[in-house]
Amino acid sequence: MRNQDAQSGPAEQRTPKEPMRHRVQLAEGWRFSQDVRFDASVQWSPEERDLLGFEPTVDEWDGVTWSKAGRCYGPAAPALNDDDWRAVSVPHDWCVEHAPHPDAPIRNGFLPMGVGWYRRELHVPNEWASRRVFLRFEGVFRACKVFVNGHLVGVNESGYLGFEVGIDPVLEYGRRNVLAVRVDARNKEGWFYEGCGLYRPVELVVTDPLRVAFDGVHAQVEVVNEDRPEAADLTLSTEVCNDGDELASFQVRSRVFDPAGCVVGELRQQAWAEPAGSVVVRQRMEIAGPEVWSLDNPQRYRIETHVVRDGRDIDAFETHFGVRSVAFDAKRGLLLNGQPVKLKGVCCHQDHAGVGSAVPESLQVWRIERLKEMGANAYRCAHNPPDRRVLEACDRLGVLVIDEARVFGISREHIDQAERMIRRDRNHPCVILWSLANEEMAVQVKPQGARMFAHLKRRLKRLDNTRGFTAAINNGWDLPTGFIEHEDVHGLNYFNQGDLDRLRRGAPDMPVIVSEASSAVSTRGVYETDAKAGVVTSYDTHVEPDHPGVRMWPFWGREAESSWKVVAERRDLAGTFVWTGFDYRGEQSPYVRWPCVGSHFGLMDQCGFPKDVYWYYKAWWGQEPVLHVFPHWNWDGREGQDIEVWAYSNADRVSLELDGRSLGDKPVPRNGHVVWRVPYEPGSLSAQGVWRDGSELRCVRRTAGPAVALRLDPQTPTLATADDSTAMAALSVIDAHDQVVPTAMLRVDLETEGAVILSGVGNGDPNDQHPGRIDGRSTTRPVFHGLAQIILRSTEDPYAAGAMAGSLIASADGLRPARLHLGAPGPAAESLRVGRAPSEAG
Ligand code: GAL
Repeated sequence: MRNQDAQSGPAEQRTPKEPMRHRVQLAEGWRFSQDVRFDASVQWSPEERDLLGFEPTVDEWDGVTWSKAGRCYGPAAPALNDDDWRAVSVPHDWCVEHAPHPDAPIRNGFLPMGVGWYRRELHVPNEWASRRVFLRFEGVFRACKVFVNGHLVGVNESGYLGFEVGIDPVLEYGRRNVLAVRVDARNKEGWFYEGCGLYRPVELVVTDPLRVAFDGVHAQVEVVNEDRPEAADLTLSTEVCNDGDELASFQVRSRVFDPAGCVVGELRQQAWAEPAGSVVVRQRMEIAGPEVWSLDNPQRYRIETHVVRDGRDIDAFETHFGVRSVAFDAKRGLLLNGQPVKLKGVCCHQDHAGVGSAVPESLQVWRIERLKEMGANAYRCAHNPPDRRVLEACDRLGVLVIDEARVFGISREHIDQAERMIRRDRNHPCVILWSLANEEMAVQVKPQGARMFAHLKRRLKRLDNTRGFTAAINNGWDLPTGFIEHEDVHGLNYFNQGDLDRLRRGAPDMPVIVSEASSAVSTRGVYETDAKAGVVTSYDTHVEPDHPGVRMWPFWGREAESSWKVVAERRDLAGTFVWTGFDYRGEQSPYVRWPCVGSHFGLMDQCGFPKDVYWYYKAWWGQEPVLHVFPHWNWDGREGQDIEVWAYSNADRVSLELDGRSLGDKPVPRNGHVVWRVPYEPGSLSAQGVWRDGSELRCVRRTAGPAVALRLDPQTPTLATADDSTAMAALSVIDAHDQVVPTAMLRVDLETEGAVILSGVGNGDPNDQHPGRIDGRSTTRPVFHGLAQIILRSTEDPYAAGAMAGSLIASADGLRPARLHLGAPGPAAESLRVGRAPSEAG
């Protein structure tokens, strides 16, 4: 350790004391309306118009008056009676509460968007009178205006970047304060489902006027010897704002803890800030023999930042960072801590079945766990900055991330959005690249594009100089002009949109990633493409069966297998990002028409149930032995007809039997699969994989019998351990042998008891016409090919810790019902079987 006032010492677990910085989640107490209409002639008397100070001249009433302060009207005004507005909790995505409608925007999955208003009261005690009070919104889709007590206090354009508004000057202490938020989601930012409303958390933050700026701590780490990190230089930049009237003199004290919780350094730096000014305090130290963050051992360091004035702690909070080195090389690809790592990545949009874009924390973690379990080591946030919980999960689970801006341009708004993304996310060790653009066809290979990219990069490097900048380019990525002139890593979307060898000739020293690949489509549980039914075969063929050889929509798509083989074989490709990890709403593909409401691109469906292709990736990306045979073996009426049986496996050889009769033994090609043609008869199809080291694995597909029961499997450990008190459960229709009935499409009644309510239901069907989100105790929903997923939340404040218990009951005509008890942590939870989504094999 070196440098100013650095001290090291034994472990000290003292946490920052409250209430220096006080945070209150604004989850409950909101009222919501999408039906806010104002008729000027009815709503306003002449006296009221005088009071308002302006004559309304526009049809669209947005609550704002620019004439006079504190006179914002309609739902922005405290006086409005909102008793008949609906009570909602936040995060809230209003889109998924609706059923799809053919007149609604197609790219939004036929879900209506529109304008929504939120209101709630704020309790502001007198003690806060000398403090700063902020509202912090983590993500609002989109174009929102924030009002407090009839004052417009903030506007924010982006649907993906959070923002803060200081509201203390307009508060009334010890009295009723009214917060109103208008969200205008009539315009989309992407060509996919984006959700609507306050879909990420909102909180109230109370600080001293002398405070650390939001996202104001930057831990910049330079590893000394990249090949064998023996030491790391840590530069801490802490931005302190003085919102008071006097010059403030203070000390920034930064205590650095290693992953085991031991103090490795304490840095003290005296500084001062002008009134209404800010200062960035820099502190440096060396971390000797650092615990390195890696994919297998994703450990983070922690900083406790204190602002101390006159011997008193004024502000304090924690930040995490990781010590790792990331470098890209044209020939060797990505070097993580000096070691080559092939990027085995997926692109993902942010929504999930049942909850749309308002994905609770435990579900965010669950999704990343499923990807990691598949063997993925990387995640591209397509095409927007993610919920910070995604990055938290990737940090903690060891998954590399490309963090991507939603919009590309040079206006103040564009630059501001990119800067906010970097300021927010730069301490996450999982983030390895900043992506500034995706498929900007107008400029990506033009001189103008080169200048725009350089202009942005120049500014952004001031915020983070430790990561490279990239962009995902389609059409023309093999040309040496445009973005590529200033990128650190070149991102190419889809092989058939360029020529790799030509790219290499033009840019021999440029590291290259396949930022998007495959876009193969399949529907879970389906083995015959049926355009009328809106489903696609799960065999990895990606050709139109009626027109052999003709590629399906999207025409740039490729089979998973042919797409991965190219990347696996070329060392000069640092890796790939398959489109997409999960199915998502909107951007219907391949059926761009009603009644299809979702894409079929996922390796898992919208609920996270694996499709067959998931096992292809698990076989060739993961470390474990894999044997997965498909399709299911229920082909009533097709007796005697040949059925193609595929096996995804990383075994050396796989043999197949039907009811004990051998159907042959085949070698498995590297990064490939094996196929048999088997005349159908009900029975038991059994495959055996054999590895060179003698190990074996068996996978059996039995003809399932009639459905006799329902089964509920918890997918999260228990209700109250999750920060947000959300739980997920998988529902299966099973036969007498506890086997999922793959053809079951029946309707199931769901009901809750105790302290849980239904929050969302999905079944993975890209044509499902039900609203996803539910706020209640009962509903009836269909399963899709035997499965559905239920998302529950506690009826208490979802942020309150504590013991809560409730049950979910599933029943259907003629079937044995299932009951799942979700209990508090401790003995009650021990009886729970913690499991992941049931799949058909492994
Ligand atoms: C890409 C695009 C993605 C998605 C995908 C579908 O060109 O970047 O957002 O639309 O195609 O194949």
